[in-house]
Amino acid sequence: MTRRAVVVGTGHYLPERVVPNAEFSTMLDTSDEWIVSRSGIERRHFAAEGEFTSHLAIHAARAALANAGLDPSQIDAVVVATSTPDMTFPAVATQVQAGLGMTRGFAFDVQAVCAGFVFALANANGMIMSGQADRVLVIGAETFSRIMDWTDRSTCVLFGDGAGAVVLEAQAGTGSADDRGILSTDLNSDGRYGDLLYVDGGVSTSGTAGCLRMQGREVFRHAVEKLAATATAALARAGLAASDVDWVVPHQANLRIIRGTAQKLGLPLERVVITVQDHGNTSAASIPLALSVAASEGRFRQGDLLVCEAIGGGLSWGAVVLRW
Ligand code: UT7
Repeated sequence: MTRRAVVVGTGHYLPERVVPNAEFSTMLDTSDEWIVSRSGIERRHFAAEGEFTSHLAIHAARAALANAGLDPSQIDAVVVATSTPDMTFPAVATQVQAGLGMTRGFAFDVQAVCAGFVFALANANGMIMSGQADRVLVIGAETFSRIMDWTDRSTCVLFGDGAGAVVLEAQAGTGSADDRGILSTDLNSDGRYGDLLYVDGGVSTSGTAGCLRMQGREVFRHAVEKLAATATAALARAGLAASDVDWVVPHQANLRIIRGTAQKLGLPLERVVITVQDHGNTSAASIPLALSVAASEGRFRQGDLLVCEAIGGGLSWGAVVLRW
């Protein structure tokens, strides 16, 4: 018997305020046409004043638990992927734990920027496979609007706020690629590229939160190549190939990157979940948001093969192959 981490529930939350591209042209030298043609983004959500990453995460967590038909007391661990925590510490995951009324189990954050949810899923999978936990709530939650430089048109039009969550549950599998649940993972980082995408502040340096800085063209160049490679590597580890994939659920940063990666994998766009037009780049929240939106639309059937892939600051990138 092999323990498998099966997705038994999904949920998401988006702040109320929707900001269309047109709003940026009133304060910056930019246009809806530029933003749509270069990124595919049409709108994004921004958190309200006083609305924090933990609040978004708690909403998404409640939705995922309701979808799974589970009570918070049945969860052993909460893992939150975020680069925009409410405070330097405690971890957002412990705020979520308290918000849900959980008084047992453990909770911690994972920081791998836009690849954070993939890293968190891989971590939760390891805890489930080793028997450390039977049910893990894995959340991606971000308020990137809080680290934007509103005078930098090359970054501030790209990001948004939101949260998505999944409940993973240990189930018995056979060890074959026909099992439901997470079948394989592939994680990578290369710190030599840290200056391509970073925040120019922090606790130990400036003592401030800082603003996001990105060499977009360079990150783009790495993205298509590394995303296709990590998806292929994760599939190979499960004894599968791109031709076996029913759905790609990519990090939602740029429609051109999503298209380019699908093309490299030889997969048609009809098999790719795309939400970037509505959410913008929500960093670690983008994959669980896309998963939850697609699941709520009934797009996945039990037994479908999904590959999630993401890249972000670090650079860090990775993929998770799972059967729905
Ligand atoms: O989530 C983590 C991973 N992040 C990513 O994957 C993001 C990767 N990068 C990208 O998505 C793209 O590189 C961007 C969307 C950021 C930019 O698209 P691009 O096609 O690479 O544009 P560019 O940076 O090469 O800029 C082209 C031009 C520049 O003008 P010049 O130098 O050609 O005269 C920019 O100054 O577009 C200009 N530009 C803008 N113009 C209007 C940059 N931002 C804007 C803007 N509105 N908002």
